[in-house]
Amino acid sequence: MKKVVISLGGSILIPTLEEHTVKEYVPVLKKIAKQHRLFIVVGGGGEARRYISIMRDLGIDEGTSDEIGILITRLNATMLIAALGDDAYPKVAESHAEAKKFAESGKIVVMGGITPGQTTDAVAAVLAERVSAAVFINATSVDGIYSADPRKDPKATRFDAMTPQQLLETVGGTGLGAGSNNVLDIVAARVVERSNIPLVVLDGRDPTNLLNALLKGKYRGTVVSNSKKSPLPV
Ligand code: UTP
Repeated sequence: MKKVVISLGGSILIPTLEEHTVKEYVPVLKKIAKQHRLFIVVGGGGEARRYISIMRDLGIDEGTSDEIGILITRLNATMLIAALGDDAYPKVAESHAEAKKFAESGKIVVMGGITPGQTTDAVAAVLAERVSAAVFINATSVDGIYSADPRKDPKATRFDAMTPQQLLETVGGTGLGAGSNNVLDIVAARVVERSNIPLVVLDGRDPTNLLNALLKGKYRGTVVSNSKKSPLPV
């Protein structure tokens, strides 16, 4: 079985507690796990951003706000584990070493954040490197990497494919404040560049996109790789 690391953005799994997609994602993840060794890194979503915004209003520093963000990602991860039932390892991995250890069970391993100054995309990028994943998927709320933020710039164009070097140039100028909302953080981009593990950024708002991408190689998104060969299906 090949290893697959998925950064499952909180913005698609739990944009708000009322609009979560946990119910839709559970059967999809279980299906993928029948064919692949699955590692999932869950983001903080709207609730993390709400907490962080209150922290900012209170004049609290970014590092402490990051700590709140990490707690929310772990809360979301705990909920996903519970919803996956026996198919998931029953505890949130709090380090990459723990994730590797938990994977020996053969079950789906779920993580949240681990350290301030980054996002769960960076956690997932390092995890992909450490477990020698066949592919690193970033399931997010846009359908790939654009030349600029498509929600703000109507002239932004989407890349079908790019090299890790081009990825670094594209995300290089983005900020890293607590709760920041970029397609991929700069730490994750650097790790993708050094690890040489192919990254696929795709729209995760519809969970079947993830299923079709991994199992059939059918997707619309951006592949970041030095190779011309598509990393999907795995
Ligand atoms: P994310 O930014 O990863 O979650 O974590 P998200 O907003 O749900 O991600 P996307 O946009 O959908 O992909 C929420 C916040 O938690 C803190 C950061 O403040 C981050 O913005 N965090 C997370 C850390 O400080 N360290 C971590 O390792 C992970």
